[in-house]
Amino acid sequence: MREQIALITGGAKGIGRACAEAFLESGARVSLISRSSSELESTAKELLKVYPGKVFSHSGDISNQETVSSWFDQTRKALGEPTLLINNAGIFINKSVQEQSLEEWEKVVRINLTGSFLCAQEFFKLAKDSSVPRAIVNISSLAGIRGTEKFPGLSSYVASKFGVVGLTEALAVEGKALGILVNCIAPGAVDTEMLRQAIPGMKAKATPKDIAKIVLFLCDENKSAVVTGSTIEIFSNL
Ligand SMILES: NC(=O)c1ccc[n+]([C@@H]2O[C@H](COP(=O)([O-])OP(=O)(O)OC[C@H]3O[C@@H](n4cnc5c(N)ncnc54)[C@H](OP(=O)(O)O)[C@@H]3O)[C@@H](O)[C@H]2O)c1
Repeated sequence: MREQIALITGGAKGIGRACAEAFLESGARVSLISRSSSELESTAKELLKVYPGKVFSHSGDISNQETVSSWFDQTRKALGEPTLLINNAGIFINKSVQEQSLEEWEKVVRINLTGSFLCAQEFFKLAKDSSVPRAIVNISSLAGIRGTEKFPGLSSYVASKFGVVGLTEALAVEGKALGILVNCIAPGAVDTEMLRQAIPGMKAKATPKDIAKIVLFLCDENKSAVVTGSTIEIFSNL
């Protein structure tokens, strides 16, 4: 992973932060984005202490096209040409179908699905001028997989995460000609702040580090170069 530069959305905490740590340990450089600048700055500061010069952070919302474009530009200037994209940032709003407003529905879909598309679109542009191998890993959820038991109140989350699986397959097809592998991970419960807020009291066997290991596997061309368009479902609580 020495020459790799990984863009990680939602890199300030949870699964995104664990991915950042795993990439840094493997010798890569990382660029992180999240909306809360204080949380992001404190994570970046901690990581920079151990990996000086290898971390860039930019606070902003991935559902905003200009923000995404500026994050990519600034990453290129600070670290070099990105080779990996981890579409990890996500939110949920727990409201029944009857109670959920159109604005709430659109906010979840816009961040979880459209945000992933905007980052992927910017990433695809990089591949036009250079044939370096690249990879995208999208983070969906078991909530985005057909036939798994769904929790009530999460219609916008569930729909957006189904969308992420579909987006993965669509991007993988177009990515082939550009040397971009696109895969997806659909975790069940993972021990993070999001889980504690979404389903209080639920015990998770999987840790953010466990998910980060799978992300790394999908980004390592020596291990997974023939894998694209796949979604790995993580049934760790069964
Ligand atoms: N934890 C689980 O059990 C579980 C299970 C299945 C799938 N997942 C998925 O895994 C991913 C990571 O989840 P997690 O549990 O690590 O969540 P988390 O601890 O809540 O972290 C989410 C990160 O995403 C950032 N983020 C949210 N909206 C953003 C936006 N619009 N622009 C930029 N950054 C944004 C958050 O920071 P700000 O709020 O400051 O922006 C935060 O850094 C999500 O996509 C989630 O749906 C989680």
